[in-house]
Amino acid sequence: MTHRAVAILISGTGSNMLRLVESMQGADHPARPVLVLSNRPEAKGLKHAAALGVPTAVVDHRGRPKPEFEAEMDAALRDAGAEILCLAGFMRVLSADFIARWEGRILNIHPSLLPLFKGLDTHARAIASGMAVHGATVHEVIADLDAGPILGQAVVPILPDDTPDTLAARLLPAEHRLYPEALRRFAAGNRARFALL
Ligand code: GRF
Repeated sequence: MTHRAVAILISGTGSNMLRLVESMQGADHPARPVLVLSNRPEAKGLKHAAALGVPTAVVDHRGRPKPEFEAEMDAALRDAGAEILCLAGFMRVLSADFIARWEGRILNIHPSLLPLFKGLDTHARAIASGMAVHGATVHEVIADLDAGPILGQAVVPILPDDTPDTLAARLLPAEHRLYPEALRRFAAGNRARFALL
């Protein structure tokens, strides 16, 4: 069985990254983690990835022109032999040029039921909308922010006394089920949408 080589891009805790790495340990999984890359040297996820034996890299974006930052990131990803990129709490907006170089091979998880609530503060906006449900979406990345083809979505209830923090805490375990399933399917060539209810 050939395994697709996956690089995971993080900026912080990396809880989704950890679930992705753990999910790829299975013998029948169609992919393998080859790199965890962060744009922030202090990202906690780097230590967790190294503890699981996954190579790590830091490409700091601060104080640098974006093309220079992205060129160094692109080189690190290609040197690692990455075929698929998973954005997991990666808080830099990628340029159209970078996305074009990896077209059809970049996934992202967004904490809302896209196309609703693109951008930031999704939990507060979902609560303010008066909706009864919220969720997360794994989608392919295109140049338009949070707008690529949807691969999978997970749904959770919004409770009357929810705050953005309590809603985020209810959603994260659903994200941790959604992203590994979406990656498994994508790496096996299956782009059919699915839902975790
Ligand atoms: C998650 O809600 C994810 O959807 C968003 O950032 C949050 C933290 O993710 N992109 P992680 O724990 O760093 O994976």
